[in-house]
Formats: sequence, structure tokens, C-alpha cells
Amino acid sequence: MTRLPVSLQSLIIQCIALLLTALPSPLLLFFLSYQPALWLLALAQGSVAAVLSRVWRQPAWWPPLHFGFFPVILLAQQASIPPGVYLGAFLLLVLFYWSTFRTRVPLYLSDRKARQALTSLLPESRAFRFIDLGSGLGGVPFYLEQRFPQGRFFGTEIAPAPWLISRLRAWFKRSHVVFMRRDYTRINLGEFDVVFAFLSPAAMPDLWQQAQDQMRSGSLFISLSFEVEARPPDQVVSLAEGARHTLYVWRM
Ligand SMILES: C[S@@+](CC[C@H](N)C(=O)[O-])C[C@H]1O[C@@H](n2cnc3c(N)ncnc32)[C@H](O)[C@@H]1O
Repeated sequence: MTRLPVSLQSLIIQCIALLLTALPSPLLLFFLSYQPALWLLALAQGSVAAVLSRVWRQPAWWPPLHFGFFPVILLAQQASIPPGVYLGAFLLLVLFYWSTFRTRVPLYLSDRKARQALTSLLPESRAFRFIDLGSGLGGVPFYLEQRFPQGRFFGTEIAPAPWLISRLRAWFKRSHVVFMRRDYTRINLGEFDVVFAFLSPAAMPDLWQQAQDQMRSGSLFISLSFEVEARPPDQVVSLAEGARHTLYVWRM
């Protein structure tokens, strides 16, 4: 049960909480002639959902999200927001988060400290090919390209909006970084000397298998924040005292 994706867990939690809150209402009306107000039902549904979320040991930010879900819908209804706004917001989210429900890797960006630390791992004098798997808005290859003129930089991104933004940025910057709109599982990692990934724990087992199958001996596999269980890293670069992020490096 706990291995279901958190989005599916949340859907189940919301449905169960809805049933548990909606079903007693007719009984209250029948036996006590009491009809609870809609906002009261929404708060009750949110409380039940938040408790279920805790019981299911979802990450800490989920119970408040569950609690607020229906109350926020009620509030939005009262604000009479035109339906087109919801459609627009939904489409925007789809374009940015695309198949996150499948890949379980959302868009969030690495910071300058991570990019700086990466520079210490790349070859200083010889030519090399570098790829960022899930390149987001392109920040990592853009940063490195300026510091390693002998490198060839690539990024691959599955979501249309970040990919388009990185292409436009490359055009404005007159950058030579090549951004592909492709699932990295369809890319041959053997074509690169350095493979960088900042994904999620869920993506790491399959990616590690792909790296082992395809990467050439001596090439570098670098993961920001997420380790692989199968093999301890050859090098660990902590970005700062107590920092949340760490670079894990494997020499293949
Ligand atoms: C955490 S972000 C990292 C962005 C960027 N690399 C950085 O460091 O700022 C991960 C990105 O990987 C993308 N992604 C997830 N699965 C992917 C896949 N199978 N192929 C290509 N991109 C993927 C997501 O859309 C998201 O933009």
C-alpha cells in the first residue's frame, strides 16, 4: 500500500474522507433535523483527510494540503473566478510538470552552490561531452559552458515548457548548448563523458541501471542530492556546512 505514488494515495485519501464526511449528513438530518453548513462539512472533510494522510505517513507537507483542499475550493467558488482562469492554470501546470505523475521527478532548480561545486569535478584541459538529464530551464549547462570552452554541453528535458524556455534562453545568450526534448531513458549515455542528474529518489534505481549498461569505463556519473543504493559513491562533495544538497560522484 505504501508503495503507491503519493498522488494516487492522496486521491484515495480525499475520496475516503469525502465519503466519511458526506455519508453521516443524511443521518444527522433524519434523526436530529440538523443540516451542517457546507463550509463545516469542508472543514470536517479536510480534518479527516489530514488525519488519514498522517496515518499513511505521507511527507509532512501533505496533511495541511489535504486539510485545505475543499475549503479552498469553496472559497474560490465564492470569489467567482472565471472558469478560463482555472483552465489556464491547469494547462500551465501541465506544460511545466508534464509526466511528473509517471517519472516522479518534478521541476525544481539546482542552486549556484551546486553549479560551482560541479566545476571542481570536470576536466580542466581536455575536451569532454556533458549532459544534464532533466535539464529544467537549462541553468546547469549554461553556467558550465562559460567556464569550460573545451566542453560540449547538452540537456534533455521531458516537459515542454521548461524545454522551450531553455531553448529561448540559449537563443538569446547565443549559447551552443544543445537542448533536446526527449525522455532521458531514450538517450544513449555512452555518448557522454560526464552525466549529471538532479532528479528524485524514485528515479535513481532505473537510472543507475541505465548508466551501468551504457556509460563508458572512466566516464563520470554525478547525482545531485540523490544516492544509489547499489553502489556507494567514489566521491562525495558536500556543498556547505549542514547543506541539504550533496554531490555524489561515481567513476564508471
Ligand atoms: C529537479 S529538476 C532539475 C532541473 C535542472 N537539472 C537543475 O538542476 O536545475 C528535474 C527535471 O527533470 C525532468 N525530467 C524528469 N524525468 C525526465 C525524463 N525521463 N526525461 C527527461 N527529463 C525528465 C523534469 O521535468 C524536471 O524538469
